[in-house]
Amino acid sequence: MYPPIQRKDRRLLDSPLCFLAVLHRGQRLPLLRRRDMQGKLIWTGPPDPIIPAMERVMGGVVPLVLGGLGLVLLYRLLQRLQQGATIQDTVVVITGASSGLGRECARVFHAAKARLVLCGRDRARLQDVVQELIATAADSQQQTYTPCMVIFDLSDTAEVVAMAAKEILSCYGHVDVLINNAGISHRGNILETHISVQKDVMDTNYFGPIALTQALLPSMVRRHSGHVVVISSVQGKIAIPYRSAYAASKHATQAYFDCLRAEMERYNIQVTVVSPGYIRTNLSLNAVTCDGSKYGVLDETTALGREPKDVAQVVLKAVHHRSKEILLAGPLPTLAIYIRTLWPALFFKVMASRARKEQKSKDE
Ligand SMILES: NC(=O)c1ccc[n+]([C@@H]2O[C@H](COP(=O)([O-])OP(=O)(O)OC[C@H]3O[C@@H](n4cnc5c(N)ncnc54)[C@H](OP(=O)(O)O)[C@@H]3O)[C@@H](O)[C@H]2O)c1
Repeated sequence: MYPPIQRKDRRLLDSPLCFLAVLHRGQRLPLLRRRDMQGKLIWTGPPDPIIPAMERVMGGVVPLVLGGLGLVLLYRLLQRLQQGATIQDTVVVITGASSGLGRECARVFHAAKARLVLCGRDRARLQDVVQELIATAADSQQQTYTPCMVIFDLSDTAEVVAMAAKEILSCYGHVDVLINNAGISHRGNILETHISVQKDVMDTNYFGPIALTQALLPSMVRRHSGHVVVISSVQGKIAIPYRSAYAASKHATQAYFDCLRAEMERYNIQVTVVSPGYIRTNLSLNAVTCDGSKYGVLDETTALGREPKDVAQVVLKAVHHRSKEILLAGPLPTLAIYIRTLWPALFFKVMASRARKEQKSKDE
């Protein structure tokens, strides 16, 4: 009934993988090791009553695996539908919606049928985004809302930002989700960077977003509902040389929104800090240098970064799951974040060496 055990199978049969090994060698049923009448260990087939049972098990493995896969796919599909359901009809405000990650967030939240308020400094560029969203919805025959636009500069005074917040509230009467996405980066050494540049970056990345958040919070507090998302950066957790203004503004952002999360819990207002590594956008092109002029270079790290549409999906999920914090970084930056806390001396050495190397390549 059972083919004799081949010499080549012996080694495998003695290993814990014998079950798979025997199957792999083309025998349909596993062999058992048992003692014969003289007490010697021998390899035999399973006793008769076990055979049908084992055959049933073997016959059930393939359908079981396929069934499991099907369940996973179904779960994913349900999750997607549910995500759409939680975002549908909610009022979502996105700053910096004219470009990069903000533009992708506009796409994914619009596709999820949110009521969008898109913010930026340039009306024409925002209008382009709105036209594109309307066209996409028409192509896919989806019923979506036409986004509102509010034009303002986040680096303006807190009063101007508060006026913009009023305009935002007038679009739909309230805000469910505020995504503080707009931002600007910095390239340049500390010795040569004008203090006005440090202040400008801080205004756009920190004071503007917190002024907007504070102006919109009272209406969320009244409704005991709302969600504030901020796009920080890995550089909100570790500081990289020659980006002092950017890293400082993102560290401040992390701290402010951590405080906000704790203070808003009693009002049922969620706060999510998203800290991505490099994303393939115009951030480095638009970065400011020591004297405030445009850097205008697409850094290799940025060009090789994550796709903005993938990051936008993460933001959508974070809103759906009410995540408190999302770190979107590869293994190296993640390790660096841990080393900064657990072994700061090593982190400082690595950063100093990086600063030396960067300065040397600039000098050459
Ligand atoms: N790209 C990355 O590698 C990376 C990594 C981590 C985090 N982030 C963060 O992701 C966010 C989005 O940046 P991005 O990568 O998408 O860069 P981006 O393509 O340069 O987009 C930046 C957006 O911010 C807006 N903005 C800039 N200054 C503004 C101001 N003073 N007032 C109002 N809006 C202003 C811009 O709008 P205008 O049309 O008005 O210029 C633009 O829509 C930023 O907070 C950035 O720090 C980016």
